[in-house]
Amino acid sequence: MMEIQLAKKAIVIGATSGIGRGLAELLAQNGYQVGITGRREKNLIEIKQTNPQNFFIKTFDVQNTGDSIVKLDELILEMGGLDLLVYSSGIGCENRELDFGIELDTINTNAVGFTNIATHVFNYFKRQEFGQIACISSVAGFRGNPFFPAYAATKAYLQNYTESLRIKSKKEKCGVRITDLRAGFIKTGHVDESKMFWEISVETATKLMLKAIQKKKEVAYIKKRWWFIMIMMRLMPRWIYDKVPF
Ligand SMILES: NC(=O)c1ccc[n+]([C@@H]2O[C@H](COP(=O)([O-])OP(=O)(O)OC[C@H]3O[C@@H](n4cnc5c(N)ncnc54)[C@H](OP(=O)(O)O)[C@@H]3O)[C@@H](O)[C@H]2O)c1
Repeated sequence: MMEIQLAKKAIVIGATSGIGRGLAELLAQNGYQVGITGRREKNLIEIKQTNPQNFFIKTFDVQNTGDSIVKLDELILEMGGLDLLVYSSGIGCENRELDFGIELDTINTNAVGFTNIATHVFNYFKRQEFGQIACISSVAGFRGNPFFPAYAATKAYLQNYTESLRIKSKKEKCGVRITDLRAGFIKTGHVDESKMFWEISVETATKLMLKAIQKKKEVAYIKKRWWFIMIMMRLMPRWIYDKVPF
């Protein structure tokens, strides 16, 4: 009997621009049915128009935790299931004046928004006994940063939270795969380009990310060379790190 291969279903949270948009488009090109979300509905509609069969859209703000879950469940229902969730929503504003509003906005988007969606989807995948959650953390999560305190802290949070979920899934044998995509500088306008080095294009980054997702990597450095920086930064004594000219 001929086996019918059903298209894999992925949702990208924060797909209206940058890495999330690039990854959503790449997933669709690779035959996935892709749910795309973000606050800018106009951008979501524009992406859907490029491939109406494969894109499903839902507009919501990840800071609104209750509404996010309602909309996410609606999206999963419309798509007829879910195999992969990618969390790309994130903000990273420089905050030299240590404005609490900026810190709170960053924490609510990068950490609270992620935790809200990841806990819900982890339990959904646990019930169906398979599924994969990927998030885009950052090399900024390796150590503290005087100008982006909340950004550095929330990216470290993502790295530790995804590690916790990975271990939980293994201990409970629930079949949920976790992928932490630790990205270096990517040209999206997210970071002041004059302060970047080793920056790569969205196209290169998303290809590497998709490869890591498909290989079900637990942690992937985008690109690999950032692994050495991570080791160096983690081993660097505090008295040297404190003298780094940021
Ligand atoms: N670019 C880099 O060099 C770099 C490096 C390492 C890690 N990253 C991480 O990669 C991720 C994507 O960044 P990017 O460079 O692609 O930036 P971007 O183009 O600004 O994309 C950010 C995405 O997050 C969404 N988002 C922001 N706030 C949201 C909210 N309250 N609710 C729902 N969605 C929200 C945006 O959608 P709406 O505005 O439409 O809501 C947008 O789709 C971020 O987590 C970032 O920290 C980026």
